[in-house]
Amino acid sequence: MGKTIIISNRLPVQLQISNGGITAIPSVGGLATGMKSVHSGGDSLWIGWSGLTDEEIPEELAPKIDEALAKHGSSKVKLTKNQVDGFYFGFSNRTIWPLFHYFLEYSEFELDYWNVYKDVNQKFADTILQNASDEDTIWIHDYQLMLVPQMVRNERPDISIGFFLHIPFPSFEIFRTLPWREEILEGLLGSDLIGFHTYDYERHFLSSVRRLLGLEVSFNDIYLDNRIIKVDSFPMGIDYKKFSNAAQEHSQKKPEKQSDLQQRLDKHKKSTPDGKFLLSIDRLDYSKGIAKRLNAFEYFLNKYPQYKEKVRLIILAVPSRSNVPQYQLLKKEVDELVGRINGELATVNWTPIWYFYRSLPFDSLIDLYTSCDIAWLTPLRDGMNLVAKEYVATRTDQTGVLILSEMAGSANEMNESLLINPNNFEQIADTLYTAINMPKEEQQARNKVLQKRLERYNVEKWANSFMSSLRAQKNLDAANISK
Ligand code: ADP
Ligand code: G6P
Repeated sequence: MGKTIIISNRLPVQLQISNGGITAIPSVGGLATGMKSVHSGGDSLWIGWSGLTDEEIPEELAPKIDEALAKHGSSKVKLTKNQVDGFYFGFSNRTIWPLFHYFLEYSEFELDYWNVYKDVNQKFADTILQNASDEDTIWIHDYQLMLVPQMVRNERPDISIGFFLHIPFPSFEIFRTLPWREEILEGLLGSDLIGFHTYDYERHFLSSVRRLLGLEVSFNDIYLDNRIIKVDSFPMGIDYKKFSNAAQEHSQKKPEKQSDLQQRLDKHKKSTPDGKFLLSIDRLDYSKGIAKRLNAFEYFLNKYPQYKEKVRLIILAVPSRSNVPQYQLLKKEVDELVGRINGELATVNWTPIWYFYRSLPFDSLIDLYTSCDIAWLTPLRDGMNLVAKEYVATRTDQTGVLILSEMAGSANEMNESLLINPNNFEQIADTLYTAINMPKEEQQARNKVLQKRLERYNVEKWANSFMSSLRAQKNLDAANISK
């Protein structure tokens, strides 16, 4: 059996040049954190972009790039600044990301972006072809690389190709607005298996295939020439043990060994014993509903003023895609909202919102997950949302309440959390009230069920079930062709 080749735009680490040397920093985002656990366990090669453009790499450091990536089982696709602008900041994040998250008004249909997207997808395909033997299994990830499956298939008709989309696939009515909709579908159909996080995304995709390409679709099989392409949903899990073990170790740390962040959190807890910490963690992205959440928090404090000076909202936003204008506007909006709400409501003893705009190390994430009484996640659209799962996994004593938007893919598997519509402020305020007052026994009863499910359907299970479905599909297809 050959090796598995993972392909995604992001590698498990991002390279940066500082003080004349190369530093590797862990990539943030569901795809990278999830696949990292899969990659570390087996015989696989991960192909992607290093995070540096060709222009940023001084000649003398070029050989070191490969070395630095090889340490993480990775190999690079070289991209120029123009390619990154058109492919990553352009078509991927100014056209597809907004469109697939139902922000139609943000989506830009630029022929130049599309042309660069095609070129860069071809570069990824070429790198795969240079590295793959016929026995290998190719696993391509996400919306940045939707043309790659067919590009690889053109050269290696018999190789096994799986594709997984980590973001929502929108309804036909949204998808049909894309000028290059047929090309995107045809690109994806180079795969043997196409996976989505939820059944809804899967149905939306099948409906677009049927209506735009007129192909025969039976249940979740698509018939194309002499091939059968399978489409299925595989909700991605987390590395449950990693989070629950880290939380366990954290709870056993002596107070003097705790981080500064933890000591500060503890100090505030002590000073307000009946106080509550609310937590939200996301990349700074308009799909995450951060601005709405801030407005909803103000609404809650006005509706239930008894919680002023008691409840604190910690917002951790990781910088993301900051060359894209919509992200710059959002940064400004969030900065202003935090400033205004804190300015209007803060007292000598109380700052309602603690806002961190940075990426934090894993240990600090654990400090936050384990210290906050309520995780409050309000995406307006989200393919999955792993933060919701991570929060629950770290609750070693099973206390804690998860408030989760029903627009997140993970809401399908997390019915025991408090589900909300992120646009309904009245419902959100009442749900916050319920969460703050939820008896400990009820919190534990809900988390017990959630934890059991998350532990069982962890990221390893997710990857294994995708891979075994891909193998089964390939065998079926081979049998079909030889008939
Ligand atoms: P998305 O993939 O859209 O970013 P997810 O919630 O699915 O959203 O995944 C986010 C991942 O990034 C999680 O695994 C989370 O632990 C990690 N993460 C999010 N914010 C930060 C941060 N500020 N610092 C470090 N890691 C973060
Ligand atoms: C989401 C996407 C990933 C992406 C991640 C971080 O999880 O599905 O493909 O890697 O966000 O975004 P970035 O643009 O920094 O790669």
